[in-house]
Amino acid sequence: MDYSQKNVFVAGGSSGINLAIADALASAGARVAILGRQQAKIDAALAQLRRHGGDVRGFAADVRDAAAVQQAVEQTAQDFGPLDVVISGAAGNFISPAAELSPNGFKSVMDIDVLGTFHVMLAVWPHLRKPGAAILNLTAAQSWMATPGQIHVCAAKSGVDQIMRTLAIEWGPSGVRVNSIAPGPVADTEGMARLAPTPAAARAWTRAVPLGRFASKDDIVRAALWLCSSAADYVTGVVLSVDGGLSLGGSSAVVGAMAS
Ligand code: COA
Repeated sequence: MDYSQKNVFVAGGSSGINLAIADALASAGARVAILGRQQAKIDAALAQLRRHGGDVRGFAADVRDAAAVQQAVEQTAQDFGPLDVVISGAAGNFISPAAELSPNGFKSVMDIDVLGTFHVMLAVWPHLRKPGAAILNLTAAQSWMATPGQIHVCAAKSGVDQIMRTLAIEWGPSGVRVNSIAPGPVADTEGMARLAPTPAAARAWTRAVPLGRFASKDDIVRAALWLCSSAADYVTGVVLSVDGGLSLGGSSAVVGAMAS
């Protein structure tokens, strides 16, 4: 798809699925700014993005810091112009039974996912191209599927998707689309390293996916490129599951995977 002359901001863009989307957008001609917590990861990501020859920027900031997010977005808009695409995918995750999770552990994930998403949305709003901008949140089936060991993530992802739906209504009249992608298990990501730390757990996850395999990052990237493009001009307020059918199995499938 052609993203030439498009201006893109990717929160959480220094690694994982978010970086893969940033890379694909840069490869398709976009100017891309990424925000992540660690300067070393940002430097490595920028080196990767620069291979495509376009304009790139990197900002070291925590999405929990509203002022830092705002500063990064303002600088991006000043350098690039109005934002055409915003990817918001910074997230925290670990497995913990609810009764063993401290209030601060719960709060950490809520702060990264829910508050962080809100900070990104607040920061980008004045700088979005109106009409025409597309916002994409990276969430997960935990948004609607109760999942053991994931009470913090279930609460957080559902919060992020409700932010998405609310903004789809509030910002639709300005010509801004807001959607989510809920990936299933994606190979070679920190998230799956945390959720499937052993080969047995990885096999259980694979069995829970009707299509019988983990996603590649590219599976998610292709959906993101479509959803943020004019080909999806009339799509807003949706959570697009790109999970090989995992979420159709209901919580029992994941209960099995998490128990392995
Ligand atoms: N099990 C239970 N509690 C845990 C935990 C685990 N595996 N890891 C962290 N916590 C708790 C800590 O004990 C602490 O609570 P306490 O003060 O009551 O002891 C709280 O979470 C905050 O931990 P801290 O390490 O200070 O948080 P942080 O803000 O530095 O990191 C996390 C946030 C915990 C979400 C961390 O896992 C992270 O940085 N994740 C980002 C990357 C990631 O998760 N990627 C995958 C996305 S799908």
